[in-house]
Amino acid sequence: MTSKLIAPSILAADFGNLQRDVEMVNNSEADWFHIDIMDGVFVPNISYGMPVLEAISKHAKKTIDVHLMIVDPDRYIKTFAELGSDILTVHYEACTHLHRTIQAIKAEGMKAGVALNPHTNINVLEDIINDLDLVLIMSVNPGFGGQSFIENTYNKIKQLKQLIRTKGATTLIEIDGGVTDKNAKGLIESGADVLVAGSYVFKSKDQLKTISELKTDINS
Ligand code: DX5
Ligand code: ZN
Repeated sequence: MTSKLIAPSILAADFGNLQRDVEMVNNSEADWFHIDIMDGVFVPNISYGMPVLEAISKHAKKTIDVHLMIVDPDRYIKTFAELGSDILTVHYEACTHLHRTIQAIKAEGMKAGVALNPHTNINVLEDIINDLDLVLIMSVNPGFGGQSFIENTYNKIKQLKQLIRTKGATTLIEIDGGVTDKNAKGLIESGADVLVAGSYVFKSKDQLKTISELKTDINS
C-alpha cells in the first residue's frame, strides 16, 4: 500500500514566525505544505497572497499544495506556477469551464486538483475524474481554520473512491477541514490518501510529535 500523506495547513501557522514554522514542516514527517489562498469573494475571508507564498516557497523543501478559494482562478494559474506551486487545486463551484482550467494548470507543469464544497455532489466529477490528479473534499465550509468536521464526509469519500475505481482513474483523495486524531484513521479507512491538518498541528504543544503520531496512525 502506498503511504498516506499529511499536509499541514500554513493558514494556522504563526505568521510572525513563518520561516520557523516552514522549517518545522521541513523537519517533520509531513509530506506537503498546504497553502490556502482566499479572496474574500468566493469565501467570506481573505488569507494571504503571492508575496507570502513566495516567502514560503523560498524555504519549503516539500511539495507545495495550493488550494485556491477564489473566483475566476484562470487569471492566476501562470503566477502560481511561477511561485513554486506543485499542485494547484481550484473549486468546482468557481469554474465555469472546469475542463479548460484543468488543462491550463497541467500546461503550466503542475498537478491539477478540484475541490468540492460540502454541499456539492461527487457525481459532478463523473466526466472529468480521469483528468484529475487530485480531488479535495471539503470537510468544513471553506474560509476558516478551526471549524468542526462534517460527518457526511465519510460517505463522500466512499462515493468518490467508487467513482475513481469504476473509471480506472489514479486520482488522489485529499480531505480538508477539522482533521484531528479522532477522525484521521476513519478517513483513511474510507478511502482518503492525503489529510490536511491546520489547527490540530499548529495549535499543539509539540508539533513535530503531533505530525509524527498522526502519520504513524494513518499508516498502521
Ligand atoms: C479552510 C481551509 C483549510 C484550513 C484547515 O477553508 O481550506 O485548509 O486551513 O484548517 P483546520 O485543519 O484547522 O480545519
Ligand atoms: Zn485548504
